Amino acid sequence: MAMAKKITVLNGPNLNFLGKREPAIYGRETLNDIEALVHECARSHGFDIEFLQTNHEGQLVSFIQDAIGKSHAIIINPAAYSHTSIAILDALKMFEGPVVEVHLSNIHKREAYRHHSFVSERADAVIAGCGSAGYRFAVEYIVQRDL
Ligand code: DQA
Repeated sequence: MAMAKKITVLNGPNLNFLGKREPAIYGRETLNDIEALVHECARSHGFDIEFLQTNHEGQLVSFIQDAIGKSHAIIINPAAYSHTSIAILDALKMFEGPVVEVHLSNIHKREAYRHHSFVSERADAVIAGCGSAGYRFAVEYIVQRDL
């Protein structure tokens, strides 16, 4: 049997505190809960998931570089680095597959400094404001693109 295609899911700074962190904005689910949800959704469509979190910008760049030639798609919640990081944008520009940017909250409904994301310039799709379901929608988008 052919090996399942891999989707790399990357999570940026402070997302390891989900569940405890500003629950009115980000919800009560933990990152582990989201990982389980994404795994289940991907598995049902025959995809493998690699689910990673880091608080460090350069580590996100390295995770993206590691996905080049190995992963079919990247789902990324760059968190606050969305609004600041050209390095993450440049790394994503080297990746050849679909890229989906996910934000739990609707960044456009929040402070003006969250309205712009550098990453969106490379993203094929952007999902914001759907909470943890946004990660599932991202997997489903990647699946349907492939059909
Ligand atoms: C976030 C939105 C960002 O503005 C913020 O810095 C985050 C999380 C979200 O998922 O809604 O850390 O990416």
